[in-house]
Amino acid sequence: MGSESEKWILMVTARTPTNIAVIKYWGKRDETLILPINDSISVTLDPSHLCTTTTVSVSPSFHQDRMWLNGKEISLEGGRFQSCLREIRGRAQDVEDKKKGINIKKEDWQKLHLHIASYNNFPTAAGLASSAAGLACLVFSLAKLMNLKEDNSQLSAIARQGSGSACRSLYGGFVKWVMGKEDNGSDSFAVQLADEKHWDELVIIIGVVSARQKETSSTSGMRDTVETSALIQHRAKEVVPKRIVQMEDAIQNRDFPSFARLACTDSNQFHAVCLDTYPPIFYMNDTSHRIISCVEKWNRAEVTPQVAYTFDAGPNAVMIARNRKTAALLLQRLLYNFPPESDTDVANYIIGDKSILKDAGIKDMKDVEALTPPPEVKDNIPPTQKSKGDVNYFICTRPGGGPVVLSDETQALLDPITGLPK
Ligand code: ADE
Repeated sequence: MGSESEKWILMVTARTPTNIAVIKYWGKRDETLILPINDSISVTLDPSHLCTTTTVSVSPSFHQDRMWLNGKEISLEGGRFQSCLREIRGRAQDVEDKKKGINIKKEDWQKLHLHIASYNNFPTAAGLASSAAGLACLVFSLAKLMNLKEDNSQLSAIARQGSGSACRSLYGGFVKWVMGKEDNGSDSFAVQLADEKHWDELVIIIGVVSARQKETSSTSGMRDTVETSALIQHRAKEVVPKRIVQMEDAIQNRDFPSFARLACTDSNQFHAVCLDTYPPIFYMNDTSHRIISCVEKWNRAEVTPQVAYTFDAGPNAVMIARNRKTAALLLQRLLYNFPPESDTDVANYIIGDKSILKDAGIKDMKDVEALTPPPEVKDNIPPTQKSKGDVNYFICTRPGGGPVVLSDETQALLDPITGLPK
């Protein structure tokens, strides 16, 4: 299998983006294979601001499969990890590294153990689709380690079995998860609609909103919706198929007004379906609703919509501005309505692509305090009277690229000698 001392370690490090659905996935037709009841479409977010980095390694000296997430060892027992590991091992190929004297035959992968370390460059508990980026990165990096022949769409069908929305993180830009018809899930995978350069004017601002109580997990929420909501059938069968076609056209033509209308109405319908579930599920909170009002008021005051919003299974707002100029105007409105606590450094409140902050003319808290109400706002409540701290911080980002292998060994999360986290 390898060199005489059996001390070798082979490793691969990869980076994978997260994604935000603009036509939502909600509801499964198969819980084990994770097969959805409708197609969905997402925008991949720039991995320089939000991503998962994963190092996978193999060595004859490892005695069990082990995984560390953000430095802490976690169990690989759960079905989602096991499904992905089984599917990948089943497709593993021969691997030869002459320099290191390593020669792994495909059958060997069933016996060899893995060490995996993964790191999210954003708070894992913030509700920012960390499991999507995480499972996509796990599958992508293992596929490279084990020399799989499958393309990214085929890998997406494996990632799907770890976490449904993970399948859309196998591509950059604009991605569709085709629900498929087969009972075995073989035709349920992601395809790229357009790469990130196709529509690179878009700016994405995420409002990370404090959640006071623990939300319902997506898995149990979806199950309850499919079992109890009458609206979900109408959504999946009548509404989404039409919206998918319209959204694909909007993306192809860079038609922002259509894109914004579809993204906003689809997010709203997803939350309506949650409310139609029994017992009802509330993912958005008061702050989320105030963000919607702020965007809707502004969009209605303009000739055409300037900003789209979408909310996943949590209170965080994802806003998509049509270009940098509107993003700067959006940021001014957000800072006016949702100011940070007085002692906050603005640089810690607006993170990611800070150039938007510069475009908005904001250097420090003095600039935030000097913001005047936007013309569409009729009330004159100064921001100091509005509750501060409802938004933890904002992340400025843009559409981004898909998974990449990081060939620079210094970026590996595992020590090349011990195979343990660095
Ligand atoms: N869940 C959240 N983040 C993850 C990661 N990076 N890898 C696997 N599962 C995750």
